[in-house]
Order: sequence, then structure tokens, then C-alpha cells
Amino acid sequence: MKYILKTILLLTFSISFSQSKSIDLRVEELLKKMTLEEKIGQLNQYTDDWNITGPLIVNPNKETDVKAGMLGSMLNVNGVERTRKYQELAMQSRLKIPLLFGFDVIHGYKTTFPIPLAEAASWDLSAMELSARIAATEAAASGIHWTFAPMVDIARDPRWGRVMEGAGEDTYLGTKIAYARVKGFQGKLGNLNSVMACAKHFAAYGAAVGGREYNSVDLSDRMLWEVYLPPFKAAVDAGAATFMNAFNDINGIPSTGNKYIQRDILKGKWNYKGFVVSDWGSIGEMYTHGYSKDGIEAAFSAITAGSDMDMESNTYRNTLAQLVNKKRISVALIDDAVKRILRKKFELGLFEDPFRFCNSERQKMALNNSEHTKAAREVAAKCVVLLKNEKNILPLSKETKTIAVIGPMVKPKRINHGFWAVNLKDVDSTYIVSQWEGLENKVGKNTKLLYAKGCDIEGDNKAGFQEAIDVANQSDVVLLSIGERYNMSGEAKSRSNIHLPGIQEELIKELQKTGKPIVVLINAGRPLVFNWTADNMPTIVYTWWLGSEAGNAIADVLFGDYNPSAKLPMTFPRAEGQIPIYYNHFNTGRPSINEEKLYKSSYIDLPNTPKFPFGFGLSYTTFNYSNLKLSKTKMKSNEKIEVSLDVTNTGKYEGEEIVQLYLQDKFASLIRPIKELKDFQKIKLAVGETKTITFVIDNEKLSFYNEKLEFKSEAGDFDLMIGASSEDIRLKSSFELLP
Ligand code: GLC
Repeated sequence: MKYILKTILLLTFSISFSQSKSIDLRVEELLKKMTLEEKIGQLNQYTDDWNITGPLIVNPNKETDVKAGMLGSMLNVNGVERTRKYQELAMQSRLKIPLLFGFDVIHGYKTTFPIPLAEAASWDLSAMELSARIAATEAAASGIHWTFAPMVDIARDPRWGRVMEGAGEDTYLGTKIAYARVKGFQGKLGNLNSVMACAKHFAAYGAAVGGREYNSVDLSDRMLWEVYLPPFKAAVDAGAATFMNAFNDINGIPSTGNKYIQRDILKGKWNYKGFVVSDWGSIGEMYTHGYSKDGIEAAFSAITAGSDMDMESNTYRNTLAQLVNKKRISVALIDDAVKRILRKKFELGLFEDPFRFCNSERQKMALNNSEHTKAAREVAAKCVVLLKNEKNILPLSKETKTIAVIGPMVKPKRINHGFWAVNLKDVDSTYIVSQWEGLENKVGKNTKLLYAKGCDIEGDNKAGFQEAIDVANQSDVVLLSIGERYNMSGEAKSRSNIHLPGIQEELIKELQKTGKPIVVLINAGRPLVFNWTADNMPTIVYTWWLGSEAGNAIADVLFGDYNPSAKLPMTFPRAEGQIPIYYNHFNTGRPSINEEKLYKSSYIDLPNTPKFPFGFGLSYTTFNYSNLKLSKTKMKSNEKIEVSLDVTNTGKYEGEEIVQLYLQDKFASLIRPIKELKDFQKIKLAVGETKTITFVIDNEKLSFYNEKLEFKSEAGDFDLMIGASSEDIRLKSSFELLP
């Protein structure tokens, strides 16, 4: 048996080796036929012109360029017909090199899943992989080869609008999610339900000063390695086919022209074999940064730094040949970029059949089919965070007679997609289940739903208040759905004030006077500040933007058909003045314990603590943690400690709990955070059920980047904390790492 296994393994290896070897040979053969112009053409990417995602430079010669082999890729082209049209033009070029079609399929294609930050709140890696898998299936069925996702930027600043697109503030959670999403999008690259992933934005885009979009990033090398790079390394380990660099500079050098991160780290230390696409126009923007005095210098910096493809700036097209002719760069540098790109085209099977992703029948079968909508509904329910349920108003009874459904988010459909949804041309939004429709689908004929908008998201018009109060007075319970406009978060959507917009909180205060039980639903793409509501309303549910099945998923949670299990992937501040605020901070020499103020690291006008902490989320049931055991309390760096504990469902509903393991390295050559998430498990427990779960502490979990940037552990004492959130620590222990 062993012999047979060995033979199969050897055969499989040799087949895959010969395949990649044959691709390398085919790339070399093709490269030899290409002129310098044609090589530079492969490094060029333009957008189609109906779905613009950046400052557009209209290019009237797009089709001519494609026919002349002067384009290697296009973005924002989707649909079988449109991609086929451009691919047919590419087949008229001398060497018939197929185009790559890239698109921002960030959280679904037609079937739209919750925004990535909401999915991160599920802490459910398989759910996130499934979501990416379905997005890839629908995108690939629509002619797309490549998604510009996952965005893996760690972000500790909710003023930054793109927090909606990532996995939140924690490096460990973000690293696990990055890996899962790349695997989800790519599956087995070359399959007809897979697309190339693109880890973005390399690097540290989420650290923009002031949370202001595209702003500078200034951070130590150590912080870069410790906080911002690990999710990108996970993407490399997951086999991400491409990377996208970032708009921001890092310590004064724009990412696009930053040799250290692209050439030294990504393609050097990490030995990355995929290709790097610049973000929209970022090569040309190095002039605006004040880094490159003209296009030629920008192209020189970008190509030498390792930016392989030029998205939309037209710089490579206009300058690379000059750089070669003036012997400023060697053709070998261009060849390296071209080979990386051609290799992916071969891996996708586009040379065998450039139209293999253009199948109208497959497109029709894939888009928003029942299997996908069912998955979207289930994933969405897992993302809903129960922030408060003090009077157990939730779950609602299905026998409730009259429900008042109030707020500007109740009836609109498109808003539930949030930012970065795919705007499908000629597709109306009827397939999106609004929050109102979700309730209609859920309640029986004995339940009456009353509606009032109450107010707009923004503005100060109170004309709708009275109608809202009237329907509330006729009801047994009020559902109030408010929040920020769906495109108040996303790219170029930084907000200096992240309070609930408009007069929504005033509407809540007026409705509170009716004395009716009120459930507040908050829809947003980021943590918001809503202190009065948080202090005065007994039931609050954070629904983010949940996608095309939002209405059904929200109804499933509100009526208890799904017991909410999500936990916050970002800290919720009390005020913008606390930002950046994150759980894994340093202790300082004068920590403010129990809100002491005098000569303590604190604000005189606010507590240090957040409104809602990282890792927080409630359930309709309760869980008890007990019986914490460590297999040993002293370990050598080549050993491990087994940690076990019991979790019991002590409430009245079956539910899931996300058990979080935090460590604190008490003393080290560099100060360490007061706690760091080092593992988690999401478990389902029936009423009264107890499960024993185990974690393993190994040397990697104790390691950090020291002053020499060596990733190492240091002997000493460690505190171990098991939490239901970063602040709700249920069990504690400690152990020692021996020298
Ligand atoms: C945008 C975004 C990037 C996106 C690209 C293409 O500016 O920064 O995330 O993938 O352009 O739309």
C-alpha cells in the first residue's frame, strides 16, 4: 500500500512539476517572439468606461491598443458579452496574447455578501471562504479572471472609510481571514469557478495619518512587520496570484516605488512569484507625491521597485522604452514583469482557450442561484452583532400582533449592499431583499407590520417624526433601523465625525417616550459613535451592511431562527478623540487603572475604555467558562503547552460562542501589548451542553519582532487569558518560557 501511495505522490508531483515547467518553457518561448513594445504592452492596464473606480483618464484608443497588443489587462469589464468583445480584439493582435480581466469583486458578484468587516465579525473562517468561493464562481462565470481582493489592510482608525473592506484591527484575526479569503477566491487556480486573488494594498494603507484617505503612513519597521505585514504573508502562503500596492507613502517613499517592501520583502525574503499591479494611477501619482520629477522617473522607481503592471496611469506605456534605450534599466527587468504576468495567463488556461470564461449559459446558471442566496443569508446572519438585549426583548415572538418598523434603512434595497458592491449594468435591484421584505417573509398572517420612515439619514427634517410616533403607539414592539448612508464608508469616504448622521438619534429619543419596547438596528460600514443610544436603549443590534439577503438574515436573527454569535473585529470608541483606540495597546508607565486621572495615562474628559471592546458580542443564551487547565506551566521554546477549558451553554437557546485566547508577555527586550489575541475557536452548544476545547501554545505564539527585526521569543513570564471578548476575561493562568 505504501509503495502505491508513494508512486501516486511521485506521479502527481512530477505531473504538476512538468506542468509548471512546461508553462515556464512556454513563457520563455513566447517572450523570445515579443518586441519591446509588445512586452511593455503586457504591463499596461486600462479600465473599461462604464464602471469607473478612480479618477479617469479617458483613453479613446483602447480598442486599437488591444488589437495592437498594447494592453495586457483591463479592469471594470464584466459580463460574458463585453469580455468576449475585448478578447476577440486581443486575438487580432500579432501574438494573440489574451487579456486578463480584473474586477473589484470584494464581497460578492451578483449575490452580494456582507461587507468584509461584517464578515470578519463572524470570526467564521469557513463562512468567509465560502463567501469568496461563491463570489469567484459568479465572477468567473461572467468572464472575469481576477478579483482585486481580499483587502487585508489592518486598520485601527474607524475614521478611515475603507475599514469596511478589511478584517478590522487585529493582526492575528486578519491573518487568518486573509488566508481563508485567498483560498476562497482562488480554489484551484485555472478552474472555471476560480479567479486570481489580489492581496491589497501593499502596504500599511490602513495606518494613514488621521484616518484620512490616501494620507501618509509613518511607522517603525517593527510596527510594519508586527502589525501590518502578517496578513500579506498569509496571502503569499495561501498562494495569492497577485498583489496590489498602495497609494500611501511609507516613511516618505510611496508604496508603488518602494523597493524595500516590494523587491526586498515581497519578491526577495518572501520569494513571491506572482505579479504586482499598481493601484489606480499610483505610478503617475509619484509625481504628485513629490517623489518622481516626471513620468520617466516614476516609471524607473516603480519598475525597479517591483511594480509589474501599471493600472490606469499610462506611465509605463509612455516611458519604459526610453528607459531601456537610455540604458537606465535592462530589458531583463521588463522581462521579469512580463513573465510573471504571462505565467498567470498560462495558468488560467487562456492560451488554450481565451474564451473559456465566456459562457453565457454558465453565467445564467451561476448568478444569484438558490444555492448562493441560501449561503448569503446564512453567512449574513452570522455577521450580526448583538450589542445589548437588557430586557430580553429579543428574540421576538412570531405571535407578536403588531410591529412598527421605522427608519430610513427599512425599505431601500441597494443600501444593503454597502460599498464596493458590483453595479451590474441592466440588472435591477429587485433581487435584493430589503429589511421590510425580510420581515414580511418572516411574520405570519396574524402579525401586522406598520411602516414609517421617520426621518432621512442626513438633514434635520423632523416632518416624519409624528407618523413614526403614531405607528409606534399602535404597536407591541418597535424595530428602528438607522445608521450611516451606505456610501459614507468605502474608498475616499473618511469621516472626521463618526456619529450617527442627521437627527436619527433625536428620533430614537422621541420614540423612547412612547414607552414601547424598541429594538435599534444600526447599519454601517465602520464603528460609529452613538453614546446616548448605547446608554439609553436596551436592545441594539449592529447589522453593518449584510448584502442581497440582508432582510431575510436580519429577520432570522430578530425572531431567533438564528441566535446571534458575531463579535466586534474593531474597537468602538466613545469619541473620535480617543482614536486610534485598540485593545492590544501598551501599558505605559502610568496606566489608568479604574479610570484614575491624576498623573495617569488618560483623558480628563473621557474614560480610556471603549464604548464596545474588540471581540465583544452577545447571544440570546449565556455561556460559562470553567476548568482551565495547562499541560505544564514551564515550557522550553521547542515545547508546547496544551490549554483546555470547558464551555457550557447555561441559557435557554442553542448558540455559538467565540472563545478567545489572549497572551501577555510580561517583560521583554521591547515592551509588549497588555494582551494579544493568539487563538480563537467558534463552538456551537445546545442548551445545557458542555464542550471541552483545547488550544496549543507553541513558540510562534510567544514570538515577536525584536529590535533587530528577528522574529523570536524571549524567556520569561506570560499571562494567559481566556475571554468572551478582549475585556470580558473569564479565566486566567500563567506560565513561564524557560531560557
Ligand atoms: C481603487 C482602489 C483599489 C481598486 C482599484 C480598482 O482606487 O484603491 O482597491 O482595486 O482602484 O478599482
